[in-house]
Amino acid sequence: MNDLIKKLVEAYGPSGFEDHMRDLIRPEVEPYVDEMSVDALGNLITLKKGDGSGLKVMIAAHMDEIGVMVTHITKEGFLRFTNIGGVRPHGLWGSRVQFANGVIGMIGSDRIDDRSKIHPLSKHYIDVGATSAEDCPVGVGDAAGFVQPFFTNGKLLTSKTMDDRIGCVVAIEALKRLETTPHDVYFVFSVQEEVGTRGAEAAANGIDPDVGIALDVTITGDVPECPPMSVSLGKGAAIKVKDSGMIAHAGLVRLMRQRAEAANIAHQMEVLDGGSTDARSIQIANGGAAAGCISIPCRYVHSQSETVHADDVQACIDLLVEILSKPIEL
Ligand code: CO
Ligand code: ZN
Repeated sequence: MNDLIKKLVEAYGPSGFEDHMRDLIRPEVEPYVDEMSVDALGNLITLKKGDGSGLKVMIAAHMDEIGVMVTHITKEGFLRFTNIGGVRPHGLWGSRVQFANGVIGMIGSDRIDDRSKIHPLSKHYIDVGATSAEDCPVGVGDAAGFVQPFFTNGKLLTSKTMDDRIGCVVAIEALKRLETTPHDVYFVFSVQEEVGTRGAEAAANGIDPDVGIALDVTITGDVPECPPMSVSLGKGAAIKVKDSGMIAHAGLVRLMRQRAEAANIAHQMEVLDGGSTDARSIQIANGGAAAGCISIPCRYVHSQSETVHADDVQACIDLLVEILSKPIEL
């Protein structure tokens, strides 16, 4: 599985520019699904058919990553940029970004007079080695993602894009293991989650599922002086009860918990104070759906060293297979 993780987490794919990710994921899922399509936004929508006795279930994992977009090129060839999604200015200085055409740039910042303060994004720039706007190999509107190799430390897995390529891996591995299901299961690899769960909203409007489950990362409360949070790395799949965008369907939460207990899958309950996932969009699309989220606990979310635990990833796969392989009664 680490080969698949490495392939997906090192790849380029800021929100709105997920074509390459889609090309990587398509061959991984093609042998296991009955139908496959791409909608106008770029969502990869796949269907594994059930035996006709079950529900219509939508699983969503987002392919996009946070990144930056060029807003202006100085006459000396430096690129000013804006954020795509939740990019924080902390730790930008000296980091590297890569554009779709392969060009890599270093991030610098305007002079820092007061070291107790952090410059906003607008006072940072990207240096791609150009000397003028004319010889610059990228232009206004071009998007870049961060550059970091996949790194493992025992069971700790670290990369720039565990959010949410690890969710994509959970979906792919569950699909591989799901031999039969009563449900028509739509595995959606969604776009533009990081800018407001837009892809999943369009997909859910098109599919109109009875049940929706997002697969995404959540923060943990197990590092020094972090806000209190009852999710820890290595303690299992996190079953979301609430975040700032949704209250998960109580019946679906109960079912997830029962399935985890019955199959002895390590799990923990998640109440997240900030942020949300594709499940929010699925919950309120069309006439609404019973929606929930299986979260992969992750330290340092939206940094370039997002870290998950291999046992938690496996627990999330196991739980998803348990849910999808049996009837769902809410
Ligand atoms: Co995110
Ligand atoms: Zn995410």
